[in-house]
This record gives sequence, structure tokens and C-alpha cells, in this order.
Amino acid sequence: MLTNTAEFRATESDGGHIEIRPSVLYIGTPVVLITSLNPDGTTNISPMSSFWALYDRVVLGLTSTSKGRENLMRERQLVLNFPSPGLWPKIEAIAPTTGRDPVPPHKQKIGYRFEADKFDVAGLTPQAADLVRPLRIAECPIQFEAEVVAAHPPGAEWPFERTEAFSIVEAKVIRVHAHKDIVVAGTNHIDTSRWSPLLYVFRHYFGTGPDLGRTFKAER
Ligand SMILES: Cc1cc2nc3c(=O)[nH]c(=O)nc-3n(C[C@H](O)[C@H](O)[C@H](O)COP(=O)(O)O)c2cc1C
Repeated sequence: MLTNTAEFRATESDGGHIEIRPSVLYIGTPVVLITSLNPDGTTNISPMSSFWALYDRVVLGLTSTSKGRENLMRERQLVLNFPSPGLWPKIEAIAPTTGRDPVPPHKQKIGYRFEADKFDVAGLTPQAADLVRPLRIAECPIQFEAEVVAAHPPGAEWPFERTEAFSIVEAKVIRVHAHKDIVVAGTNHIDTSRWSPLLYVFRHYFGTGPDLGRTFKAER
């Protein structure tokens, strides 16, 4: 099991690799701002990065005590808002916050606070969605409107006593919005010379570097 300790073991016989025990496994995944509907009809923003996509489905890892998870499980609707790298300070402004009141004890301990209006705290602009009730974030160049289709608990051997649990949420993307400045005019393609995601790499924010080449399936 991974721990926060600095223990590591150096072995000369392993081709230069050593065993380490990092506290997180965020190897470099896009930052996503999930917007979800609070019970009072306002929209919450939850920064997250445990995200992947296949066909029209996205899969999200959301901790059990987050307000966002509670909201999207109740409403079955969400928007995935993808920020560009320059937006990272706005995301960090809401990083130590939760839409949950009272703040769960484990979050209180590390300095989280309740915020009812994260748009205001971050300086982000709400924008109505077409097919779902949570608002979009206007500054995010790519936005997916989505509906929850399934949710699973973690698999066997999850060490519940050590940390909070999470949900593996599967959602179906029902509408994609892309800012016209990053779309190849007259097509459904994102211009990858004008779009790059914000990445979360071992709890640091990164943009991406230059284009290294395309896969054989790329259409342009
Ligand atoms: C860049 C970044 C990535 C994060 N990734 C995740 C994640 O993948 N899953 C998750 O549950 N929480 C993640 N968090 C933590 C949540 O943002 C945090 O629990 C927050 O309080 C959720 O807000 P909410 O309770 O209002 O939903 C991340 C935070 C940041 C800043």
C-alpha cells in the first residue's frame, strides 16, 4: 500500500529503477471542472483529474464525501469543463474549498473551507447548458454535457479504514461544446495547435509541450 512516508529502497540490480511509495498516482491527467446541481438549484464546481474517455463515455473517480459526487448521483447530470493551462490560478483559488456544509472532518484538518459560490471565488463565468441543468463554465474552451449511467464502488481490498472511499462514475456525453477559436473551421475537429489541456502531474499543474506527432488514426 502507498503511504506518505519517505521510505524507499534502492536496488542496483533493477536497471536504474528504485521502489518508491508516492502518496498519489497522478501521472499526468487532464484537470476537469465538474459542474453539478446543488439541491437549491445553484451550480457547484468540483476540480478533479481522475478522468478517462472511450467512445461516448467518460469515467470519473470521485471521492465519496465530495459535494459534486453527491449532486451528480442525485441529479444524474453534470458538465465536464476542460480548462486551458492559463486558468490554473483560478482552479487553485477553489482547490481548498468544498460545496459541502459542514466541511467533512478530514478536509477540515487540512484547511478546506465551505464555499457556496465557487464561480465567484474563482472569478469564473456561468453559462447555461443546452441539455442539462448544471451551468457550464464559459472560460473553459471545451465542455461536455453528460448524464450519469452507472456508478461503482472501489473493488475488493480497498483499505476503507485508512482513507475515504470513492465512486467510479460512468457518464454518457450528450453534447460537446468547443470554442470556435480551437475548432478547424467547418469541421468537427479540434485544432490541436490551438488547444491544450491543463494537466495535473503529481499535484503540480502543467501545460503540454510541442506536438510530437500524430497517431495513424488521426483524421488531421
Ligand atoms: C487539480 C485537482 C484535481 C483533483 N482531482 C480529484 C479527483 O480526481 N477526484 C476527486 O474526488 N477529487 C479530486 N480533487 C479534490 C476535489 O476537488 C475536492 O475534494 C473538492 O473539495 C471537491 O469539491 P466539492 O466537495 O464541492 O465537490 C482534485 C482537486 C484538484 C485541485
